Amino acid sequence: MSKIYVIHENEAWVEPLRAAFEEQGLPYEEWFLSEGLLDLEAVPPEGVFYNRMSASSHTRDHRYAAELTGGVLRWLDSHGRRVVNDSRALRLEISKIEQYETLKAYGVRTPRTIAAAGRDHIVQAARRMPGPFITKHNRAGKGLGVKLFQDVAALEAHVASPAFEDSVDGITLIQEYIRAPEPVITRVEFVGGEFLYAVRVDTSLGFELCPADVCQVGDAFCPVGEQAAPVAAAPRFRIVRDFRNDVLVDKYRRLLADHGVGIAGIEFIVDAKGEIYTYDINTNTNYNPAAEAEAGVFAMKEVAAYLGRELARVTQKGPRPVLRSRGPGREDLAA
Ligand SMILES: Nc1ncnc2c1ncn2[C@@H]1O[C@H](COP(=O)(O)OP(=O)(O)O)[C@@H](O)[C@H]1O
Ligand SMILES: [Mg+2]
Repeated sequence: MSKIYVIHENEAWVEPLRAAFEEQGLPYEEWFLSEGLLDLEAVPPEGVFYNRMSASSHTRDHRYAAELTGGVLRWLDSHGRRVVNDSRALRLEISKIEQYETLKAYGVRTPRTIAAAGRDHIVQAARRMPGPFITKHNRAGKGLGVKLFQDVAALEAHVASPAFEDSVDGITLIQEYIRAPEPVITRVEFVGGEFLYAVRVDTSLGFELCPADVCQVGDAFCPVGEQAAPVAAAPRFRIVRDFRNDVLVDKYRRLLADHGVGIAGIEFIVDAKGEIYTYDINTNTNYNPAAEAEAGVFAMKEVAAYLGRELARVTQKGPRPVLRSRGPGREDLAA
């Protein structure tokens, strides 16, 4: 029987999706790709594949999950399988340089950014910034390496100190700090390639903004990790019912469609002049249950329903001709 296959490395983040699949009676299986085996002679099972690999997977001790997923997605592609958030999506997920260059190609403004590898180059990059700037990891998620600096001297001291943590891909970004008049960012959620809702996130408590409930309580899975904020100090999320920016949403929509992304959350920040700067594309997106309950909209149910429709479409078309006929692909991968 063909199924929906969910590729991921974080059990906690998949729980709401499991519940939605159960509720809608959809067949699914998880491929937990922290480690695994990919036999290039094997043939993947029939179905729809949803890639939720996270840029921050290395912080959960899954150092090579993203690399393995890259291989698996390429293999699925060779066999013409339907993949929601395919290898192009993964490339975006694991590199902010990739995100910014892609956003710019669609006419979307991004903050001035310089990438640097090596501590001296990080300091040199900062010298090119006219005002306050932040550092962030090129391969990030969960606010990795995001720190605000008012001047180069402060950064120089930081990179020379034991507190400095390099990005897992060795690339630190030095980025213009966008000062928002209100401590708020907006995240625009897409499901099935279409705008679902926008959510405003209060940033007054820091840069680590995962919307998942599990991430508000400082447990072991929480991407905010060691410095998890206490529950009372959790960032606040509010779904904006009347969000309207057709021009921007249309640019995002075209970008996602052209890059194999069906499900994503894209973040922007607005400065005092009203200029919008987009700075993050999440192809592994979580939703805030409290905000959703208040607004009466449930993105994971939409995700499940969308994957269900994709599965029905693939199943109607029937199996594609098998290119190579033998091999226990699924068992190997799922092991
Ligand atoms: N250029 C910027 N100016 C001001 N705040 C920023 C900027 N870039 C990021 N931030 C803040 O830091 C948070 C994390 O940065 P982001 O680029 O989204 O990294 P991640 O992929 O780790 O989530 C953002 O949600 C935002 O609050
Ligand atoms: Mg972000």
